[in-house]
Amino acid sequence: MTDKILLDVLKGKNVNRMPVWLMRQAGRYLPEYRRLREKAGSFLGLCLNADLAAMVALQPISRFELDAAILFSDILMVPYGLGQQLEFREKEGPFLEPVTPDNIKNLVWKAEKLEPVFGTMERMKQKLPGHVARLGFAGGLWTVACYMVEGRGKSGFSRVMKTDVECPGFMDRLMDILNDATLEYIGRQIEAGAEAIQLFDSWAGLLKGKRFRKRVLEPTKALIEALKKEYPGVPVIGFPRGARLEDYKKFRDMTGVDALGLDQNVSVDYARAALKGKIPLQGNLDPELLVTGGDKMKESAAYIMDRLGPDHIFNLGHGIRPETPPGNVAGLVDFLRARQRQHENSRSSV
Ligand code: CP3
Repeated sequence: MTDKILLDVLKGKNVNRMPVWLMRQAGRYLPEYRRLREKAGSFLGLCLNADLAAMVALQPISRFELDAAILFSDILMVPYGLGQQLEFREKEGPFLEPVTPDNIKNLVWKAEKLEPVFGTMERMKQKLPGHVARLGFAGGLWTVACYMVEGRGKSGFSRVMKTDVECPGFMDRLMDILNDATLEYIGRQIEAGAEAIQLFDSWAGLLKGKRFRKRVLEPTKALIEALKKEYPGVPVIGFPRGARLEDYKKFRDMTGVDALGLDQNVSVDYARAALKGKIPLQGNLDPELLVTGGDKMKESAAYIMDRLGPDHIFNLGHGIRPETPPGNVAGLVDFLRARQRQHENSRSSV
């Protein structure tokens, strides 16, 4: 056993308490984040400032009793490292110069452009309390390819969906480039101190059947295989957001992930009956419930905990929404801890 309960669960050890962390636990819902973001000038500037980014990653840890801190960066730092023009616009999200068959040759991976990101993880290693696990992350190759070809994310992904059908060779080439860059991006995070990795395949649910196999299952399997050759002890959490239920199962069984993240549309009963058992699951409280808070949030959290815990990694089904009151996050974490103590007491009094 280590003193990091999240790593224990990921390594299949028995635990008596459910680890908790929350996707996008660092971000705009925290006033102290907004202050540092302003100081940095832009989101990209914040990601490329190791001192400030490490402070941001630590902010939710100082406020709440969480079991992991996630690197403060973005899945689109890989396109940035490949030389693609990238800009985050206020309220509109990312804008990229779309990759096409004509300009794909201009993509050249330069890990040194991301040196500050690895510096962020080094600082997290120095500063985090010993029981908090350090998570690195990258986007799933399909999801990053979606943003690179589409150029943005707010207006849907019709261009990349069409390109994938009409120019599969171009998409293959892009995914190969992304595989190599992502491997180094993750490898450098691990060298800097990351103890587990999450792969965010946020747009996995755009695909089904053969196309899901080709763009999600196979590339994820190849990436994890290569990663495990170099870093066999570092667990990988896969998150194929929005995938169909049967595809979640395939993802669990075929990719080599050590844990499976579930979005809020997977019912807890289905997860318990059909997905639980082989590897730990993570998720899947509806982020909307964290905005509302109160009894509805607590009832749903209790349901997840009682049906899936304690070898479950408690999390949301997607990132914390910017309008979430920080007090609700405190309320959720405190509720989970109190319920856990109740369970322990009732066990020890039997
Ligand atoms: O606590 C954490 O999880 C922080 C690290 C983190 C960020 N983005 C910071 C961020 C992580 C793990 C991500 C992942 C990410 N980035 C994903 C996968 C998860 C998901 O949400 O599906 C995706 C698709 C992206 C790409 C991205 N980055 C988009 C579409 C946007 C704009 C939408 C938005 O929420 O603003 C971003 C910007 C972004 N990434 C912000 C943060 C804190 C907001 C930037 C700001 O301060 O204005």
